[in-house]
Amino acid sequence: MMKREEEALSRLVICDHPLIQHKLTYIRNKETNTKDFRELVDEVATLMAYEITRDIPLDTITVQTPVAETRAKIVSGRMLGLVPILRAGLGMVDGILKLIPSAKVGHIGLARDHETLQPREYYINLPTDAQSRMLIVIDPMLATGGSANAAISSLKNNGCDQIKLMCLIAAPEGVEAVQAAHPDVDIYIAAMDERLNEKGYIVPGLGDAGDRMFGTN
Ligand code: PRP
Ligand code: URA
Repeated sequence: MMKREEEALSRLVICDHPLIQHKLTYIRNKETNTKDFRELVDEVATLMAYEITRDIPLDTITVQTPVAETRAKIVSGRMLGLVPILRAGLGMVDGILKLIPSAKVGHIGLARDHETLQPREYYINLPTDAQSRMLIVIDPMLATGGSANAAISSLKNNGCDQIKLMCLIAAPEGVEAVQAAHPDVDIYIAAMDERLNEKGYIVPGLGDAGDRMFGTN
């Protein structure tokens, strides 16, 4: 289901399952309306959650089935936390919670200045036990990487040390920026696009993720 590109720095995992790629095509389509866009992002987030949790550790316990006692696997290790970057990251939360309902959710609000492309943090609220959790930073778009880097730095400044990044679409520039700043953070994406345009939008991308998710412009 997934293709790994071993980078010198952190791991880049491209989730290339056919269902993810199919749904992503409809997400990209400018004719897709807000309701369908939201539903598709939600579905892709669920499918990607399956991939991002692929290597979480397991313990073996004894369980009594109706037929016999047996040894069977359960998830162990750190509890999970989701950290959507506002606004657009919110659209991926429910899809992941379907698979990991016990995850706690923190929020980081970042707005990218349209001229400088620099992110400005306007909100942060983390679970009280965030430091002991494996955190997944969520944002549909990894463009320059400024927002993802700022979010990851904020988490590290708050004492969090096990962090992954999940995005739908990345530009090569964004992946490079995150790998350079945070080589300990593995990156999971559904597609690596061609480039950024002069306005910092991913080409071909999907446009402005927040606007398409919430019907604003
Ligand atoms: C978008 C997107 C990312 C960021 C990516 O958010 O959802 O957070 O841009 O760009 P970068 O990699 O160059 O930082 P935006 O700042 O437009 O805010 P919004 O979600 O509130 O629309
Ligand atoms: N943010 C978006 O929403 N879309 C892009 O293409 C780049 C940044």
